Amino acid sequence: MLDGNGLQIKPALHRMAKGVDAPGVGAVEPARVGLGPHALRPERDPRACRSGHQPEVAATPLRSNDHDDADGRGQRAGRVHVVFGAGQVGRGLAEHLAARGHRVRIARRSATPVAGLEVAQVDARDVAAVREVTRDAAVVYHCMNPSAYTAAAWQAEFPAFGEALIAGAQSAGARLVCLDNLYPYGPGAASRTEDSPHAAPGPKGQVRVAWERRLRAAGASGLRWTLGRAGDFVGPGTGEQSLLSPSVVRRATRGASVWLPGDPDAVHAFTAVPDAVAGLGALGDAAGDVEGRVWHLPILEVTPRALVGAIGAAAGAAPRVRRIPGWALRGLGPVVPLLRELRETLYQWEAPFRASDAAFRARFPGVAPASLDRLARATVATVAPAVLLPAT
Ligand SMILES: NC(=O)c1ccc[n+]([C@@H]2O[C@H](COP(=O)([O-])OP(=O)(O)OC[C@H]3O[C@@H](n4cnc5c(N)ncnc54)[C@H](OP(=O)(O)O)[C@@H]3O)[C@@H](O)[C@H]2O)c1
Repeated sequence: MLDGNGLQIKPALHRMAKGVDAPGVGAVEPARVGLGPHALRPERDPRACRSGHQPEVAATPLRSNDHDDADGRGQRAGRVHVVFGAGQVGRGLAEHLAARGHRVRIARRSATPVAGLEVAQVDARDVAAVREVTRDAAVVYHCMNPSAYTAAAWQAEFPAFGEALIAGAQSAGARLVCLDNLYPYGPGAASRTEDSPHAAPGPKGQVRVAWERRLRAAGASGLRWTLGRAGDFVGPGTGEQSLLSPSVVRRATRGASVWLPGDPDAVHAFTAVPDAVAGLGALGDAAGDVEGRVWHLPILEVTPRALVGAIGAAAGAAPRVRRIPGWALRGLGPVVPLLRELRETLYQWEAPFRASDAAFRARFPGVAPASLDRLARATVATVAPAVLLPAT
């Protein structure tokens, strides 16, 4: 994103775009909190990170869960829930599953520990290694991102992750629960459902289209899979690679300008990270009817301006939302990889981009999306707790 100070590219995102600082690598990992009544906790003490030790983070149930289906109990019978990826969603999901009484193993590229949880360092493109780490799995969760936000990295790494995880889940007889995004759908004003046509105009979207097709083919050969699509991540747990990153939230709470691509008044489909966590947990625990199909995880439809405004209001601030000029996106695209990549999905920000979570809500009435105000308060409480106004 562009920063408000003289339109500088934000260093962390710039590094990520160049593949230097892949998501989750070397970054201070944000604390995971849910949106429940005990959830308003500050981010971790940065001193603890500097010392190289991960501070203790208690596993916090995100909300009351009523999705513990009959055969969900069967998924707990001593077998492990293996979560691939410990980034924005994977880490919170692992903590959520552990809080629900599951045996949990995180499988990640780095050896970075996660307090209280088993971590296996593995390259998820390595089929044999993935089979080994999932040998005793009841459920395998795919919450990984490739090493860079580029079409080339997605085309190379996603299919490799997918083949290995399919092989691992099938060998173990486990359910494969996949986290995905809304890129497959393409432009259009109508609200997207799980049955909307796949009209992705660009290569990263096409990677996701191919992944769903691959899952369906594997399902015909016996793979037990389910896939949860999320909107753009916001809220507690969101990392610096996201549009409303902790840095941007801090700017909003100071009343500074927030620069965004596209039309800030166009409704957009967001997903609160804790809702993605709760949603994937529900898909992992649910009865077999969730398998073999796509679900939209809880969606919050709101304009970027209203979202930033709500975050500012929770801190008593009135940030200005400003549009990144088209010339910057077009002109700098050839030389700034991130901006070049963002152009693929700009249609999602230039006009209303809606998605319906009606099917998920009907199936899982206990996992409802966060309200805007509650999400805004939880976001500020996580990132800038000192400026959070008392609840009215
Ligand atoms: N960003 C959004 O707004 C958004 C919205 C909807 C859906 N999604 C999708 O959600 C999924 C997860 O995204 P995220 O942002 O939560 O992820 P993330 O924060 O970027 O974390 C990526 C994780 O993948 C792991 N990883 C990468 N390469 C690996 C490998 N070769 N072997 C094993 N682990 C590997 C990393 O391990 P280390 O931590 O050890 O490096 C890291 O934990 C992605 O499919 C993404 O497209 C994102």
